[in-house]
Amino acid sequence: MCNDRNLFSSRIGFILAAAGSAVGLGNIWRFPYLAAKNGGGMFLLIYILFALTVGISVMIAEISVGRKTGLSVCSAYRKLNSKFAFIGIAGAIVPVIILPYYSVIGGWILKYMVVYFTGGNQVAAADNFFTSFISNTTSPLIWFLVFILSTAGIIVFGVKKGIERASKFLMPGLFLLTVAIAIYTISLPGAMEGVIYYIKPNPELLTFNSVLNAMGQMFYSLSLAMGIMITYGSYLDKKTNIESAVTKIAIIDSLVAFLAGLMIIPLVFVFLGEEALGTGPGLMFVTLPKAFASMAFGNIIGGAFFILVLFAALTSAISLMEAIVASFQDEFRLSRSKAIALTLIISILLGIPSSLGNGAWSDCLIFGMDFLTFFDHISNNIIMPLVAILTCIFVGFVIKPEAIIEEVELSCKFRKKKLFSFMIRYIAPLCITIILFSQFL
Ligand code: PHE
Repeated sequence: MCNDRNLFSSRIGFILAAAGSAVGLGNIWRFPYLAAKNGGGMFLLIYILFALTVGISVMIAEISVGRKTGLSVCSAYRKLNSKFAFIGIAGAIVPVIILPYYSVIGGWILKYMVVYFTGGNQVAAADNFFTSFISNTTSPLIWFLVFILSTAGIIVFGVKKGIERASKFLMPGLFLLTVAIAIYTISLPGAMEGVIYYIKPNPELLTFNSVLNAMGQMFYSLSLAMGIMITYGSYLDKKTNIESAVTKIAIIDSLVAFLAGLMIIPLVFVFLGEEALGTGPGLMFVTLPKAFASMAFGNIIGGAFFILVLFAALTSAISLMEAIVASFQDEFRLSRSKAIALTLIISILLGIPSSLGNGAWSDCLIFGMDFLTFFDHISNNIIMPLVAILTCIFVGFVIKPEAIIEEVELSCKFRKKKLFSFMIRYIAPLCITIILFSQFL
């Protein structure tokens, strides 16, 4: 059954595609402000510690489940143990919820990119620019459609010619742009203060909540518990060393998050001062444009910045869409083009309320949240942690860590297998349970 599956053609292609999924808006928009808010260097260290232990273990488990079964998330769990198929179903639902609103945000990024390239540096920095854009009815919808259709335009070409080829271009591009902008911002006069603020451990800001934030961010950032890594694992050949590939993916993901902070924090510091970092989610669309507007070459830096963010969002959206398409193909035996069409229809229907929720439909609230916030909340804070816990229990106690170790050792020795078994059985489920319950307190 996995023989006729379209596989990644190279190890590096797989690593870039999986890292592309991991590196996304979470790294560029969320990580820097979380780090700034939660004790700088300390947060960074805790984050990296989690990523290299718990994160890597869960990712190894997911990729191995995918490769072992050669199937996407629903079918993979069913094949391993039909009583636990429900975990696969829950995992498969997550990308269906995330892709639509992620693409709405992707559309906003496209809009900003075009604004910068048409010389709109000052326009984008105007006070009401962002709110008046997202509350408009048609324009954000059109950009959303452009973004999601572009994603589908890559997926249509399949794993090798679509996903792998796009990742081989987008990921190096993203990395170069990040490094270039980071170098430029830290060379600005006064930037060092911002760099120090970002890197220097500030124990006073580090609370139990910061540790929770670091853990939650790590799961989201590594694209765990949403069927993506299982799907990508199902396209992996048996020769690839999963342990070393996963370590590289986690390192790339942490490095880009770190560099994003290095690029953004000093910039905000120099032009707007420390208080501006407290703006949280508005950082990327409201605060940064103000910094670009006050700097030399603001149009170019702003334009380059939004291209980089677009690349990051696109590779993540590709992985979300692929996870859905693969589920439809495996579950309903649909052809790839039919599965893509179905995915598009569902995603567009679900994306419309997320887009209109900031304007025309802003009166419709679900539990007090607009549609976009609601979809983000239920997927990240409720379904994903649940799927993550169930995945750990399933791997740790149902199929047992040995099943994963055996899969990893098809290519080479699994060096940290003891650590892996311990993490997946005890530490990972414990951490995720704490994340899940802490939200209700
Ligand atoms: N890992 C991505 C990020 O850091 C988030 C993501 C979410 C990716 C959903 C794919 C799917 O932004």
